[in-house]
Amino acid sequence: MVRYVLIGAGTRGKDAYARWIADNPDEAELVAVAEPQEGRRVECAARHRLSEGMLFKDWRELIDRGRIADACIVATQDRDHAAPARAAIAAGYNVLLEKPMAVTEEDCMSLVAASEEAGVILRICHVLRYTRFFAAVKSALDSGLLGEIAIIRHSENVSYWHYAHSYVRGNWRNAAGASPMILAKSCHDMDILCWLAGARPRVVQSFGSQEYFRADHAPAGAPARCTDGCPHERQCPWYAPRLYLNGTPMLKNLAFSKSLLIRPLASFFSTEPFDRLWDWKEWPSVTISDRHSRAARMAALQDGPYGRCVYRCDNDVVDRQVVNVQFDNGVVAAFILHGHSYQEGRQIRIDGSAGSLEGTFGFAGEELVLFDHRRGGRKVLWRNRSPFRGHGGGDEGLMEDFTSHVEAFLKGAAPPDEPGAARAALRSHLLCFAAERARIEGCVITLDEKGAAV
Ligand SMILES: NC(=O)c1ccc[n+]([C@@H]2O[C@H](COP(=O)([O-])OP(=O)(O)OC[C@H]3O[C@@H](n4cnc5c(N)ncnc54)[C@H](O)[C@@H]3O)[C@@H](O)[C@H]2O)c1
Repeated sequence: MVRYVLIGAGTRGKDAYARWIADNPDEAELVAVAEPQEGRRVECAARHRLSEGMLFKDWRELIDRGRIADACIVATQDRDHAAPARAAIAAGYNVLLEKPMAVTEEDCMSLVAASEEAGVILRICHVLRYTRFFAAVKSALDSGLLGEIAIIRHSENVSYWHYAHSYVRGNWRNAAGASPMILAKSCHDMDILCWLAGARPRVVQSFGSQEYFRADHAPAGAPARCTDGCPHERQCPWYAPRLYLNGTPMLKNLAFSKSLLIRPLASFFSTEPFDRLWDWKEWPSVTISDRHSRAARMAALQDGPYGRCVYRCDNDVVDRQVVNVQFDNGVVAAFILHGHSYQEGRQIRIDGSAGSLEGTFGFAGEELVLFDHRRGGRKVLWRNRSPFRGHGGGDEGLMEDFTSHVEAFLKGAAPPDEPGAARAALRSHLLCFAAERARIEGCVITLDEKGAAV
């Protein structure tokens, strides 16, 4: 049994990690929460039966109580990771820290050094490693099915609706307020590339920019908010009420599902005139207001950031980026990140001397196929037709793995060199910083033994 405290009871802290704790009472217990928003604190208190004395409005108050549990989850926003994580490490907690671990190279490096000095576990929430899909990819490579790996093509196809939600209207729209998109979204992907290549990244280059979601693309007569009588309501894919009330874009995405139940239902409710009938109360709609009724969500659109016209926001992060990486075992990787996809999901293709792997991992389902050079044909290694929840099993996998490592550590085992260990996470973060510098400065960057730019 591992006892947790939670800093930041938002979408990730409360709805992913603390939910896993509530669902696994034999494995874990949540004993305290620090969260400034009252509604979120109250919800945690009710779900985890916390007394008033175990609810804090700020992480500093919680840390001031000394170490009152075995592990601390830090799930605040990107720019508020380093300070509470450092304080939690200093207080002696094992720390589960949301990605990105910090928004500067210096903070990332100092957090890892601090955890090693304090002798505590620091784990970064690179949940992709714990998904069944990427576990199947890694296992195929480790078992030699592809022979010697030559090249990895990996793309993070952020759907047009997710991109608008998070990177135009939402929390990650502006690099100065959050972090560059390559760090915020794709430290996961850089981590996966390093893990699958099985080597250190040596050289990196990148191109990309924000080209589309700017005022000069706004159609004539579009008001500042969708709810102000926009004449383009029916044509605009980002029309906020359709996205946040009816969930039409997400249903259109689910219409690509291979599930025989989901596909017809999603097709029906995403097509006019039936698209006004569905009430979508899943992510991302549930994030725009603490109350989830239709009226509460509409009020949030009329007043808050998510009702804004996508061409009239204060966004500056890229809507397209490519990153090329050479690893020191000769593997080369090409990574694509963009916000214009018809459906949400990653695609990967790995080619080696003995075979190729092709996979899709997304909102509408998952599939991993092996092509063997000698035998020919195609063999499905993994398939999941259910819609995407909890990052394809990654959220639960991470919590199970971290909890069992902390439990073993408390019983005297050495801090494990587990997947997602802080040093590996640091390497992928340094790769993101280098890619971002390469993009902005238009240069090719060589990395040293530790992954830092030379
Ligand atoms: N691992 C993943 O796959 C993944 C996916 C999405 C987001 N994230 C990351 O998770 C983090 C959290 O994202 P989110 O969507 O849950 O954000 P969120 O805004 O919903 O949650 C952050 C919470 O921190 C709270 N907070 C702010 N100041 C605080 C303080 N002083 N003390 C305690 N709590 C405080 C906020 O009130 C909020 O409830 C972000 O860094 C994000 O990039 C990770």
